[in-house]
Amino acid sequence: ELSDSFQENQGKGGETHQVAQEDGAVLTTSQGVPVADDQNSLKQGARGPTLLEDFHFREKIFHFDHERIPERVVHARGYGAHGYFELTESLADITRADIFQRVGEKTEAFVRFSTVAGSKGSSDVARDVRGFAVKLYTKEGNWDLVGNNIPVFFIQDAIKFPDLIHAAKPEPDRGFPQAQTAHDNFWDFISLSPESMHMVMWIMSDRTIPRSFRMMEGFGVHTFRLVDADGKSSFVKFHWKPKLGLQSVVWNEAVKINGADPDFHRRDLWTAIESGDFPEWELGVQIFDQEFADSFDFDVLDATKIIPEELVPVRVVGRLVLDRLVDNFFATTEQVAFCTQNIVPGIDFTNDPLLQGRNFSYLDTQLKRLGSPNFTHLPVNAPRCPFAHFQQDGHMAMHNPAGRANYEPNSWGPAQGGPREDPVRGFKSVMTPPDGDKLRIRPESFADHYSQARQFYISQTPIEQKHIGDALVFELSKVERPDIRSRMVSHLIHIDADLADTVAKGLGLPLPEPAKAAVAPKTDLPPS
Ligand code: HEM
Repeated sequence: ELSDSFQENQGKGGETHQVAQEDGAVLTTSQGVPVADDQNSLKQGARGPTLLEDFHFREKIFHFDHERIPERVVHARGYGAHGYFELTESLADITRADIFQRVGEKTEAFVRFSTVAGSKGSSDVARDVRGFAVKLYTKEGNWDLVGNNIPVFFIQDAIKFPDLIHAAKPEPDRGFPQAQTAHDNFWDFISLSPESMHMVMWIMSDRTIPRSFRMMEGFGVHTFRLVDADGKSSFVKFHWKPKLGLQSVVWNEAVKINGADPDFHRRDLWTAIESGDFPEWELGVQIFDQEFADSFDFDVLDATKIIPEELVPVRVVGRLVLDRLVDNFFATTEQVAFCTQNIVPGIDFTNDPLLQGRNFSYLDTQLKRLGSPNFTHLPVNAPRCPFAHFQQDGHMAMHNPAGRANYEPNSWGPAQGGPREDPVRGFKSVMTPPDGDKLRIRPESFADHYSQARQFYISQTPIEQKHIGDALVFELSKVERPDIRSRMVSHLIHIDADLADTVAKGLGLPLPEPAKAAVAPKTDLPPS
């Protein structure tokens, strides 16, 4: 909109340009030089050619040419907000993590929600897993809980991640479909990977078409460890429970919403926070020890399994509130770098082979995406607590070490010698004995791929079960190869006979032989 001060300026050569407002800061080059004319390039004569001497023109175009950075290889489409975590129950007896010590204390947070498969410009209400990544700027460093809205994952070992994502993303010859599970490559990979069956039940459920980011659960997925001051560790699973409850749309609604407003979820989050209706989640933990872990039929290191809540109830220990919009989407939401390896004293990894692989992948990809190992210097990624180290130089270094010494040990005094290790406060990995010989194998304890898939399916209400059946028929009907459809149904037989029957009928297929199962699924499980 043009302000009252709209004016037409007659340039020297008789050309016309428009100035929308005459107040405000003076426009400058990135060197701070005031700009007299931003509408016309410098030319030899009124009709050109344009001169190379025009440093303002060159700087402006050069910078524009370099605006894009690679989008995330997964979770490219996302939306973030600032907020805080507040502790409501102390876990001081279980962990030395500073964030879990003092009830009532608030810790700054940044959260980014995302879809997984779609590109940066894809639609919000796709049938997809949602990322739920939380950066907590604690007093002892940044802790990133990089989770999803589904508590389990497709694969058990990170070495399969590139295959999973290649199969889910557009097919390489034709470049489609965009952000859809409904195609041959996806179901080919899934039906050849029985470990994904539990996750498949969740992604075909209403969970993957949430009504709003504010109405989704979040899960850390892996089993992590909490570690006390004496180095004693407990296992933990992290849960985020939305205060507004869990709500989804149905598929027909999703299709219409995507057509009418592809930004539905990001607009919803922006509008809610802008109007002071701050979204909130409870942080819940399931805590158990090694003895309890050994009593489960499955392996707690297997990310395709949940810990049933009736065995280990979720204990609420805090709340997460999102109360501040970003000032700039690119500076924060695009440049934020969540890394599973960002943990703090009092929290530790387990040997979950998916988590171990993630700990390499995020840092690696962020170097490519953000272009410099100094991405931790960006405001959204920098710790809020004091930090001091000897990492230096590289592109865009903004926090090089001060003083004479940039190595340690050194014999310079406190002023020149820089920071020192602290064996008491410092992060220490939990000591665990080695598990055996070096080998490339999947343990027996990871072999039951169907029992929890079944447990999830039978825990659904009849209408929810119908939605799962409808989704499977719809998605598989987009698969051209009958052998892939049939192979998928052969797995469903192990999950629920009626479901397999419904899907086979819906696809017009004869019921195939059940898939070969590594171990017989349990049929006497209670609903989860
Ligand atoms: C990005 C979650 C498994 C590699 C993300 C994001 C989330 C997420 C939430 C988006 C972060 C953001 O908003 O910026 C998960 C969960 C997993 C999982 C919950 C399983 C439990 C994996 C595995 C790998 C992987 C196994 C690789 C071995 C990546 C990469 C990115 C990413 C490369 C892009 C990061 C970036 O460019 O900043 N993941 N992921 N993820 N994930 Fe995962």
